Amino acid sequence: MQSLINKEKIIIVDFGSQVTKLIARRVRESNVYSEILSFKEFNKIKEFTNIKGVILSGGPSSVTSRKFPNISTDVFKNNIPVLGICYGLQIIAKIFGGIIKKQTNLREFGKAILKKKMNSEILSSINLNTQNIVWMSHQDKVIKKPKNFKTIASTENSKNTIIEHKNKKIFGVQFHPEVTHTAIGKKILENFIFSICLCKRNWKLEIESKKLIRQIKITTTNQKVICALSGGVDSAVTAVLIQKAIGKNLTCIMVDTGFLRKNEFSKVYSILKKKHKLNIKKINAQKIFLNALKNIKDPERKRKIIGKIFIRLFEKFAKQHSNAKFLAQGTLYPDMIESKSTYGSSSTIKSHHNVGGIPKKMSLNLLEPLSSFFKDEVRKLGKQLKLDKFILNRHPFPGPGLAIRIPGNITLKKIHILQEADDIFINSLKKKGLYHKIWQAYCALLPVKSVGVMGDSRTYENICLLRAVTSEDGMTASFYQFENSYLEEISNEIINSVPGINRVVYDITSKPPGTIELE
Ligand code: XMP
Repeated sequence: MQSLINKEKIIIVDFGSQVTKLIARRVRESNVYSEILSFKEFNKIKEFTNIKGVILSGGPSSVTSRKFPNISTDVFKNNIPVLGICYGLQIIAKIFGGIIKKQTNLREFGKAILKKKMNSEILSSINLNTQNIVWMSHQDKVIKKPKNFKTIASTENSKNTIIEHKNKKIFGVQFHPEVTHTAIGKKILENFIFSICLCKRNWKLEIESKKLIRQIKITTTNQKVICALSGGVDSAVTAVLIQKAIGKNLTCIMVDTGFLRKNEFSKVYSILKKKHKLNIKKINAQKIFLNALKNIKDPERKRKIIGKIFIRLFEKFAKQHSNAKFLAQGTLYPDMIESKSTYGSSSTIKSHHNVGGIPKKMSLNLLEPLSSFFKDEVRKLGKQLKLDKFILNRHPFPGPGLAIRIPGNITLKKIHILQEADDIFINSLKKKGLYHKIWQAYCALLPVKSVGVMGDSRTYENICLLRAVTSEDGMTASFYQFENSYLEEISNEIINSVPGINRVVYDITSKPPGTIELE
C-alpha cells in the first residue's frame, strides 16, 4: 500500500480516544501535516527526522492499572516537543514520577472553568478572563505533579489541569482542546504547533495535489494503471488525479454490480466519460454478484465475497486489456485508520472501505494516492480539479452498495423495491433543500414483513428503514433531526408509490453505538 506523503509532520499517538481523528484534523486545518500512529507503531520509531512534535491522545485506559498502554521514552531523549491530552497528560505524569489517582466520585465530565496559575507559551495570546471554558472527560487525576514540572492552570476539581516541564518542551492538558466546546482549544493547539514545535504552514492542498501528480508519475514508472470507479467522490478524484499524471496509461473500469442506486450507473458513466474525458470500460457483472450472494445472509461473508469478485474482475480485466500493473482505488485516511485497531488486536467491525475486503494474494499493486487524506480534503482537491458538482457533493456510497442495505437474503425483487424507495427519498431530500445538510442518507429494506391495511385490503409487506446522519468524516455520526411532518410525508410517499413496502421506520441510532450502514 503506497502512502505518498513524506514531509514535516506532527504525530498523533492514538490511545483509543473517540476523538483522536479530530486532533489530526485540527492540526491539518492549521495547514500542518499530521499522521496518527497507534502507540505500538510509535514505539517502533527509531528515526525522528521530520517529526516536529508529538501529541498523545486521550483513551479509555488507566495508568493506575497494573498494565497500561505506554510510550517509549525515546521521544523525550530526542527533545521532540510533546503535548499530552487527558490520558496523554497522565502518561507524561506517570513517566516523570507524578502520582495519578482514580477518582470514584469526583469524575469530571463536561464543562469546567480554567484558572491560570502562571504564564506559559501554551497559553500565549489567550485571555482566560474572557474565555475560560474547557471540556473535560476523565476519571483519573494527577494529584501530585512530577518533579521538574510546574502547574500552569487548574480547574476546581483538577489542580494540575495544565502542566509543563521546567526545562523541556513537554506539556500536558487534562481537558480536550480538539473539541469545539473548548473555545480556546484551537489556540492552544496552534500555540503548541507553531510557537513550541516551530512548524511551518505548509500543508496546502494546491501544493499537495501537484506533488501527488508528480509522485504518481514516479511510482507508476510508465506502466499501465486501472482505476476502479464507483461513482463516488473518492474514486473520481483518484481517477482525475491519475489521468493528469499519466494520461493514456490510465484505464478506468466501472463495474455494474447490480447493487447500485436507480439510474446511477448511466448517470455517473456519462458525466465521467463526457465531461472528464476518462477512458472508461464498463463491466456488467450483475449476474455474477447476485449468484454469488444467493442465500448468503452473514454480513461479513457478503462483504468478503463482494471484495473477492471485484478483485478477480479487475485482475482479469488487467490481463486481457491493458496488462496493467497497478490497481488504483479511492481509499481514504479514515479507511486506513479504521481498518487497524489501536491495540493491534483484531477487533474488526466490518471488512470495509476497500482495505479489508481485498484478498491477501493479488497480482496487481495497489495505488492509493488519497490514503493520507480526510474526506473534506478530498472534496477540496476535487474542487480544485474542477470535478463535476453532482459527483463532488454526493453523499458517500459504499463499495458493496445496496447489498449491505438489504439485511438477510438478497433477491432481484428486493433490489428493485429498494431502488425505487431510495430514489424517492433522495429526490425528496434534494427538493426540500435538505440533501446537503445531511452527510449521508439512504433507504434499507428490512427482512421483516408486517401487516398493514391499504384501502379496504390487508397487506403483508416489507419494512423500509430510512437512515440520515450528520457527520464530519463518517467516523462518528448523529441521526438527522427531521421535522415530524417531513417524516410523515416521506413515509406516505414511499408506501403509496412502492409496491412491496407497507411500513416505514426512521433509524435514530448514532455512531457509535451503531454504524452508518446496517451491515
Ligand atoms: P460505517 O457503516 O462503517 O460506514 O459506519 C462509514 C462510512 O463508510 C462507508 N462504507 C464504505 N465505503 N466501501 C466503501 O467504499 C465499503 O465497504 C464501505 N462500508 C461502509 C459508509 O457508507 C459510510 O459513509
